[in-house]
Amino acid sequence: MYNLSDRSVVLGVTGSIAAYKAADLASKLTQAGALVDVVMTDAATRFITPLTFYSLTGRQAHVDMFDTASGAAEVHVELARRADVLAIVPATATTIARLALGLADDMVSLTALATKAPIVVCPAMDSQMWEHEATQTHVDTLKRRGVLVVGPEVGRPASGHVGAGRLAEPDTIVGAVRYLVGKSKGDLLGWKIVVSAGGTREPIDPVRYVGNYSSGKMGYAVAEAARDRGAEVTLVSAASLPAPFGVNLVLVQRAEEMREAVARECEGADGLVMAAAVADYQPAAAAGHKMKRTKAGVTLELVATPDILAEVAKADRLVRVGFAAESQDLVVNAREKLRAKGLHLIVANDITAAGSVFGSDMNQVVVLDRDGGQEELPLLPKYEVARRILDRVAALLAK
Ligand code: C5P
Repeated sequence: MYNLSDRSVVLGVTGSIAAYKAADLASKLTQAGALVDVVMTDAATRFITPLTFYSLTGRQAHVDMFDTASGAAEVHVELARRADVLAIVPATATTIARLALGLADDMVSLTALATKAPIVVCPAMDSQMWEHEATQTHVDTLKRRGVLVVGPEVGRPASGHVGAGRLAEPDTIVGAVRYLVGKSKGDLLGWKIVVSAGGTREPIDPVRYVGNYSSGKMGYAVAEAARDRGAEVTLVSAASLPAPFGVNLVLVQRAEEMREAVARECEGADGLVMAAAVADYQPAAAAGHKMKRTKAGVTLELVATPDILAEVAKADRLVRVGFAAESQDLVVNAREKLRAKGLHLIVANDITAAGSVFGSDMNQVVVLDRDGGQEELPLLPKYEVARRILDRVAALLAK
């Protein structure tokens, strides 16, 4: 799952009350297939124990640099060399200062100094400490050196003092780790991919719209999978799902807005994956005020929306992938769309099939290409479907 299988993630935990969230992160990274080695400062062990991390990762956590019994001093160099990513979560003001100055007097700062792996630092501290010029100067230094700083968020931290200083959410941090792995090892590095997602909403009046059941999950999976492989990704979305880390998100509602955003983002892009369920019809005119309920009912006049894919096809430079949700004659209808819209690939799914309905995390599709090829995939998680589609896109880009 994801791009973390057998990747070495060294997790540096320091002494903030948010340290308990590092346990959740360690668990999530391990579940995603990463080999997670935890290094901790002394202060971190006041908040959470090495045993917690051992239990979650199945690997010994390291605290004492001078512990000859566990060989921690040699281990740190070994971990630093092996690491694909070093994530320091949570990072206190003191640790940030240590990193900026290049000190190496505990297992966390020492690993940071010894590694060539990309580093993500997730600060968590009292808002006044975060806003202090000393901390801000150190953070700038780290950013200048290429360290990725994620958070802190504004909100209510465990200490109760509201302000900027709350640790970023573990899911966001997992996204940041996946992003960094993609940026250093991905096969789509250097390519720019535009993805569309979600069902558009065409207004009838200020409170009602014509819409569809699309959740946007398939498009978000494609965007995340492309990011995980190092692509520069823009996601034009009509869905309301959490923003994926490291993806340029452009939110739209109507087909007309999606058309404009897709056309703009496709300039200079290499590929377009249109997973959005764009409404085929929109009300001829939206009422300016909320329509009143009448006994007689209303008749809506619907007019066709622009066909975004067909328009983009005129610029025959991009690798173009469309989707076809069908309830009958799946392959025949999809093949006709592939031809009519001038696509390289079309991903067809039968919306009447069990298990791959709207909103599901699973999907079962048939991928059709220009040369008459037809690849039938089994029922898979949407992320896995996305990966298979991107395998095909990567092959087309390489041509
Ligand atoms: O014709 P149909 O709507 O079934 O085609 C589906 C494919 O075309 C999807 O990839 C969808 O994103 C795209 N589409 C589009 N503009 C529209 C309607 C659909 O780009 N107005």
